[in-house]
Amino acid sequence: MEQVETKEIRPLRHGVKGRLHIPGDKSISHRSVMFSALGSTPVHITNFLHAADCLSTVACMRALGATVEELGATELVVTGNGLHGLREPACVLDAGNSGTTLRLLLGLLAPQPFLATFTGDASLSRRPMGRVVKPLSAMGAKIVGRAQNTLLPLTVLAPDGKLHGMRYESPVASAQVKSALLLAGMFADGATTVVEPVTSRDHTERMLEAFGVVTEKDGTAVTIRPVAEVQAPAAIEVPGDISSAAYWLVLASLVPGSQIVLENVGVNETRTGILDVLAAMGADIVRTNERVSGGEAAADLVVTAAKLHGTTFGKDIMPRLIDEIPVIAVAALFAEGDTVITGAGELRVKETDRLQAIADTFSALAPGSVEAGADSLVIHGGTQLQRAAVPSYDDHRMAMSLAILGAAGAGVIIERPDCVRISYPEFYDTLAGFGGE
Ligand code: S3P
Repeated sequence: MEQVETKEIRPLRHGVKGRLHIPGDKSISHRSVMFSALGSTPVHITNFLHAADCLSTVACMRALGATVEELGATELVVTGNGLHGLREPACVLDAGNSGTTLRLLLGLLAPQPFLATFTGDASLSRRPMGRVVKPLSAMGAKIVGRAQNTLLPLTVLAPDGKLHGMRYESPVASAQVKSALLLAGMFADGATTVVEPVTSRDHTERMLEAFGVVTEKDGTAVTIRPVAEVQAPAAIEVPGDISSAAYWLVLASLVPGSQIVLENVGVNETRTGILDVLAAMGADIVRTNERVSGGEAAADLVVTAAKLHGTTFGKDIMPRLIDEIPVIAVAALFAEGDTVITGAGELRVKETDRLQAIADTFSALAPGSVEAGADSLVIHGGTQLQRAAVPSYDDHRMAMSLAILGAAGAGVIIERPDCVRISYPEFYDTLAGFGGE
């Protein structure tokens, strides 16, 4: 029988203290490399997230002709060959576990005069790509693949002439869909507008501006017009990832006696839903040293342990905290009273079905604590906890959330724990530094 790798997390015996450097934002790191590859001058990228997902993007952009020099693990210089300088890759492009790599590059490659084929890991091969292939095809893109062109492997063929700009009403609030269409729209024959049900993260729009490309915002609609060239900035400083800070926001809130400072966290308001929800639950989180860097807001976050209570939130805030639901569910498990989360159907198509994964693992670690609906979760706070072995589902955010649950609670054994390398390779070392191992 195959030996499953496991990691044991022991309950913390004291509060967490100190200052923590938060690794670079994953969304912004991907975009920094992709967009720099469209310029013709070198871009010096600092605090780049050196994790598996972003390295998938680096490998793809190299295969497409960009020069990526690694000055250090988190410091890159990327030089492109101009807006029309991408070249046909000689190999299959492997997006690994990364939905952002795949969906944004489908948009970027759809208008190019060459062929490219994408593959990815088992998780990415199950995730729905029709949400970008369908609108791109309506613009004139030629993308073929498994399951009526909705699943990997996918091949992008050269289109007949230019793509056509269009107005697209997206049924999902997704920055990956929006970004794919905006990137394709840069090469189209007219304006491209994406309308979302609720505004998703706007890192693409902000970074395009730093490259001299204007997008126009009108409510939840964003428009881009054809672009002749981009002016790459000399430098991009990536702020810390609030989605990685989230684990420490919750751990320090839950463990009595804790007080930590999370340094240089990106607090773009399209990403700060977790701060709003934790505040509504009674958390003590203070922003200091607020600043703007490279068009993105950043701050230090001071977190002090506090007594949390249950809350209710739904679809309107969902895009602002979509990746934080597993760890917010952990906070809810320790809170007084029930937490009701609705409008969370998108969680079913993340790296794993996160609603099911939360329901199953919480049932093992706190029997009777959770009820999952088609797009909802009810978590009964204060349920008795027990130590158990639970799977990570090879999902980085499930593994890290379960580790926080175990450290703040009765301990946990995580099966297949290594998936944290996708977004936060040093996560377990940091937790061990707090005494959580
Ligand atoms: C991301 C957008 C979100 C998020 C993902 C990163 C991005 O996905 O969950 O981790 O960088 O644009 P959706 O666009 O599918 O919501």
